Amino acid sequence: MDMRQLGASGVKVTPIIFGAWAVGGWMWGGADDQQSIDTIRAAIDAGVNTIDTAAIYGMGHSETLVGKAIAGRPRDQVVIATKCGMRWDDPKAEGIEPWNQKTPDGQDVVVRKNSKPASIAWEVEQSLKRLNTDYIDLYQIHWPDTSTPLEDSMAAMEKLREAGKIRAIGVSNYNVQQMQQAGKVVKLASLQPPYSVLRRGIEKEILPYCRDHDIGVMVYSPLERGLLTGKVTVDRKFPPGDHRAEHKLFTVDSRRRILTALESIRPIAARHKANFAQIIINYTIHVPGITAALVGARTVEQAQSNAFAMTFTLSTDERQVIRGAFDPLVV
Ligand SMILES: NC(=O)c1ccc[n+]([C@@H]2O[C@H](COP(=O)([O-])OP(=O)(O)OC[C@H]3O[C@@H](n4cnc5c(N)ncnc54)[C@H](OP(=O)(O)O)[C@@H]3O)[C@@H](O)[C@H]2O)c1
Repeated sequence: MDMRQLGASGVKVTPIIFGAWAVGGWMWGGADDQQSIDTIRAAIDAGVNTIDTAAIYGMGHSETLVGKAIAGRPRDQVVIATKCGMRWDDPKAEGIEPWNQKTPDGQDVVVRKNSKPASIAWEVEQSLKRLNTDYIDLYQIHWPDTSTPLEDSMAAMEKLREAGKIRAIGVSNYNVQQMQQAGKVVKLASLQPPYSVLRRGIEKEILPYCRDHDIGVMVYSPLERGLLTGKVTVDRKFPPGDHRAEHKLFTVDSRRRILTALESIRPIAARHKANFAQIIINYTIHVPGITAALVGARTVEQAQSNAFAMTFTLSTDERQVIRGAFDPLVV
């Protein structure tokens, strides 16, 4: 198996990481817990060694499901990545950019970005409990909290690493300047930014910076939340609470253009006996500088099918055709 190390951390991930946002239900119109647990287990059984979750996914629910899904497996056979810094449960209501949300059981909450040292120290204990483990392999700050000195947040993360509660420190949605600041205090193992064949913003500055500073890059939403699978047809409807209904890439016109671009790469898919999702994932995990793709799945079949994307090789010409098909649609 092609294993890839996150920076100098010693944490080794498969090129596909299971993204556990959707299985938490929140912002995805709900999810069936047993199906979610079965889906996570199917991904691991199919060779995906890493699960990415976050405290905020389902307000703790996704982490709880991940804990249940990995129960009974030797702990060192699964890499757990989770995130802190998005609080919905802070009695002091500290933090910035308040965002009105509902918990999976319908309670109104306000989510705030908060990476204060005391909050990080509290959050890690909650995540360890929900995940039912005594260490987290990769602990990431979910979004920058510009109201807290970044150096203080990083010092808090380093304390957790020294205490053995986490093995490596990562960040998500940070820009180059924020990574530079963080890099003065800790050795970052990874960055988690958005990326797909449609969304290439990181190619210019972020990927070169991470390569030069030995920071692993785990990209999120590589399937553009399902659009690049070909399964989001123009007449597909999303249930209440599924954020995709309002997302600007999911307009009928945008779906139509994406489906047309996918059709143009059908001969490549046929040559590899692969579906569109597998082609797009394979393309993504071989972009120079990308360590791994975080791929969400909601069913056992999707998880198994997506894992197949680690098994074939696209030629340079095929890669160029795939990229070119989406050139006019880049956002
Ligand atoms: N750090 C951050 O701020 C951030 C933000 C977003 C995501 N993430 C991470 O990245 C992970 C992946 O991103 P994502 O979940 O946004 O999007 P994604 O991986 O681009 O898309 C996942 C969705 O596509 C559909 N899908 C997946 N495989 C499929 C297949 N084989 N056939 C048909 N449909 C398929 C499923 O939804 P349906 O079946 O319902 O269509 C699934 O939930 C997340 O789970 C999370 O861990 C991080």
